[in-house]
Amino acid sequence: MRVLAIESSCDESAVAVLDGQRGLLAHELWSQVELHRIYGGVVPELASRDHVQRLLPLVHAALAAADTSPADLQGIAYTAGPGLVGALLCGAALARSLAYGWRLPAIGIHHLEGHLLAPLLESPAPDLPHLALLVSGGHTMLIEAMGLGDYRLLGETRDDAAGEAFDKSAKLLGLPYPGGPQLAALAAEGRPGRCELPRPMLDRPGYEFSFSGLKTAVALAARSQPLDAQRRADIARGVQEAIVDTLCVKALRAIDDTGHRQLVVAGGVGANRELRVRLTAALAARGGQVFFPRPEFCTDNAAMIAVAGLLRLQAGERNAAGLGVRARWPLAELRPPPQ
Ligand code: KG4
Ligand code: ZN
Repeated sequence: MRVLAIESSCDESAVAVLDGQRGLLAHELWSQVELHRIYGGVVPELASRDHVQRLLPLVHAALAAADTSPADLQGIAYTAGPGLVGALLCGAALARSLAYGWRLPAIGIHHLEGHLLAPLLESPAPDLPHLALLVSGGHTMLIEAMGLGDYRLLGETRDDAAGEAFDKSAKLLGLPYPGGPQLAALAAEGRPGRCELPRPMLDRPGYEFSFSGLKTAVALAARSQPLDAQRRADIARGVQEAIVDTLCVKALRAIDDTGHRQLVVAGGVGANRELRVRLTAALAARGGQVFFPRPEFCTDNAAMIAVAGLLRLQAGERNAAGLGVRARWPLAELRPPPQ
């Protein structure tokens, strides 16, 4: 089975072609980062207008790169939520129209299920069940992935997501949007132990996170003395250490408590090198294994939507030809494909 997939939930327009036998044949992505940079964040209306213009050329490019014609496809997957409604509708409308024209089944995919399944694009791939740490711009969750569509939430953030904490701290340090990767780069020049920041909830039992207090601490640290280049780097390092420490402690606690040997790390923050190094060493010390998608498949992309779409279509799932998309969509509402 070969599927075309479309992702347009936020500020990336992406299209991929995935073949059940031959693997990923093409993935194309257009990032709107430059478009939104002057506003310091994503402007939903501008995002939608750009998706409208970008998606169809990306479909043509992906099909050409995959040497695939519509007749070679068996289905179309698209992100149906959660995300910006206007942006989601652009992808959904295009996917449904192409599916109608080409007489193919179309399937709406949960964006976070895409992130969770992205490591299946790599080799070796994780087995199910496993524990997953999902860390993106909007979510921070520890999940037991029992099977396709069977995700049990162990804990999540009470306020800001890990990516949001990276982005807001970066903004306070005067770094351009999107700040996460920029803050990580700056942190590499920071000195250890020069800026200790709070690690909320670390001493509490359980698997919940809280990152909203971090930005106050960062704002104070940034005010405390002249903010020269070294001081900014020291603060950046302190921010990264606080976030990575917190994520590692809770993820490892969940690994130890549940007995899972495999940890999957997914979502944009999974691209963070420090987090990758720390978790790789910690799982190795436990005789376990950690699985990350390659960095470009940690952040938003269509290849991950293609994986979820392929697995669900292969299992015989079809969803009714509605154009519905959902801005909010709890992961717990997902179900395995019908038997
Ligand atoms: O998964 P994603 O692309 O979009 C959402 O679905 O939210 O995640 C984006 C988030 C942003 O907050 C971004 O700053 C963060 O992931 N991010 C990083 C890194 N790369 C992306 N945070 C820390 N270090 C990175 N290298
Ligand atoms: Zn995402």
